[in-house]
Amino acid sequence: MCGIIGYAGYRDVVSTILQGLTNLEYRGYDSAGIALQDNGEIKIYKTLGKLVNLKNELEKKKTEFEHPTMGIGHIRWATHGSPSLVNAHPHTCTCGKLVVVHNGIIENYKELREELINKGCKFRSQTDTETIAHLIAEEYSKTKDLEAAVRNSVKKLQGAYAICVMHKNAPDIIVGARKHAPMLIGIGEGENFIASDTPAIIEYTKKAVYLDDNQIAVVTKNNVKITDTNGNEIKKKIEILPWESMSLSKMGYKHFMLKEINEQPDVIRNNLSGKLFDIDAPVNLKEVKLDKAALKKLNKIEIIACGTSLHAAMVGKYIIEDFAGISVEVEASSEYIYRKTTTDASTLVVGVSQSGETADTITAIKQAKKKGAKILIITNRPDSNMARLADSLIPVNAGIEVSVAATKSYTAQLISFYLLAIHLAEVKESLDKSTLRNLKHELIQLPYKIEEILSDTTKIQECAKNFSSYKNFIYIARGVNLPTALEGALKLKEISYINATGYAAGELKHGPIAMLDETMPVLSVMIPGGITYEKVLSNSEEAKARNAKLIALTSSTDKALYNLFDAVLKIPKVSEILSPVITCVPLQLLAYYIAEFLGKDVDQPRNLAKSVTVE
Ligand code: G6P
Repeated sequence: MCGIIGYAGYRDVVSTILQGLTNLEYRGYDSAGIALQDNGEIKIYKTLGKLVNLKNELEKKKTEFEHPTMGIGHIRWATHGSPSLVNAHPHTCTCGKLVVVHNGIIENYKELREELINKGCKFRSQTDTETIAHLIAEEYSKTKDLEAAVRNSVKKLQGAYAICVMHKNAPDIIVGARKHAPMLIGIGEGENFIASDTPAIIEYTKKAVYLDDNQIAVVTKNNVKITDTNGNEIKKKIEILPWESMSLSKMGYKHFMLKEINEQPDVIRNNLSGKLFDIDAPVNLKEVKLDKAALKKLNKIEIIACGTSLHAAMVGKYIIEDFAGISVEVEASSEYIYRKTTTDASTLVVGVSQSGETADTITAIKQAKKKGAKILIITNRPDSNMARLADSLIPVNAGIEVSVAATKSYTAQLISFYLLAIHLAEVKESLDKSTLRNLKHELIQLPYKIEEILSDTTKIQECAKNFSSYKNFIYIARGVNLPTALEGALKLKEISYINATGYAAGELKHGPIAMLDETMPVLSVMIPGGITYEKVLSNSEEAKARNAKLIALTSSTDKALYNLFDAVLKIPKVSEILSPVITCVPLQLLAYYIAEFLGKDVDQPRNLAKSVTVE
């Protein structure tokens, strides 16, 4: 979603800010802008569309600025008001001396806007953000102190914000503030940064301080001061950021998505290391802080998540119920929020999120916490807001995921669920020793099986080419692979904009079958030896009888499949219960190659954001 970087220091301000924004680009946006403190003036440049447009604009107009000493930059993902130049950030007050960039949504902006208009402020955009600029400018006119003006203003804001503010008459400072939206301060030598996320600053410094809600930061090139809403100074711990800037490089791959798909074997190994190394020893999940007695008694788990993480959660439900016999409910966070749930102090609530910043999931977790539930968070961002709400935290260690379409974070989440389900089974003694040994043995083998798929993708590429002209797809599966069908279809929708829907194979005949004809390919996920193979096969035959073109994703070596299916995507032999970790990979690749073949913007699909920080 939106991204912010503010910079004060010795480097070239324009290129430092542009690089910071480039590193946030993957989050998804529709316009960009920058404000510079230059020679006693505030200068603003904005463009629509990709960041390259802003780069070109700044290059064209570089004679307009002399030597900027500080600046703030923003990429916007439209919430209030369409993507347009006038709605792009930075926004200014009436006289243009004060500029602000903002992530989040101000809920009471209409009331504030009306009040400010009555006081004579001239609004130019439809955004909630512009209200903040006028509000702070109004306070500044009373105190002539930018820090105090921000402090007094944010008290009047309801909703979520991470803001960076500059004023023409305060040429040495950038003021940042946050509530319910992430913001961190990067600490350098003779330079400091403010950003909405780590990648913006990782090339320049690994030292950072995370702002908490209701804190205000005053940043100059040589100093950082953080205060609370009453102006009391707060001493905060400097943290070392967990990433290398290298992780933001494509490393020779055409797209981040392809790189990230190929990283999955290592991500899984990384995730298993230290937790599962001896198939005769219990998994080491010390991250789960519930004591054994509490876990033994545990009989209700709720898992909440969005998007791809929700599909990982669905696999989680299946295997926790299967391995540990604990009843699990899975729900989209955005639905959980608006329901009278039965969550109570005896419930373990698991939040799953790649980014750890998804607003719906954060709200749902907070709601569950209020009801006394114990909170376990499975995330790729142990430094996120969601992680801070956790009683127990399982970091999935996938490394930064740049492509908007989640791939390696999904498999990493799956592995965390397998480890959790085995851990629960061991505590509850619900599986016999030999089943546990077999499961662990096969889990350790999974990275090799994915490597086998990745070593030759010719058949997948061929299939992508042959099927890329279809406008609709149906993906079917049963049991533990139903989430695979949903996730495979989601991947295709996200990056190729082809309409693809995942269904429980048994549900096909209860409605969706009416849509089948030669224009609607059906992809079936079938694991021989599993409890669903025969049934999915016969559901595929039902589809064939309606002239649908068929694709099989299977480990079967049965030659007869080639009579029924138009394409067969082969995967290595795998047990059905562990197969979701494998079956997702060819579906990621199929979506990737279809989108690539159609010339789509694979890493930054239209309208999507990597982390959705609004409800
Ligand atoms: C966005 C992304 C999806 C992601 C979802 C949940 O919609 O585009 O790829 O699955 O958010 O994000 P989270 O960070 O909570 O896993």
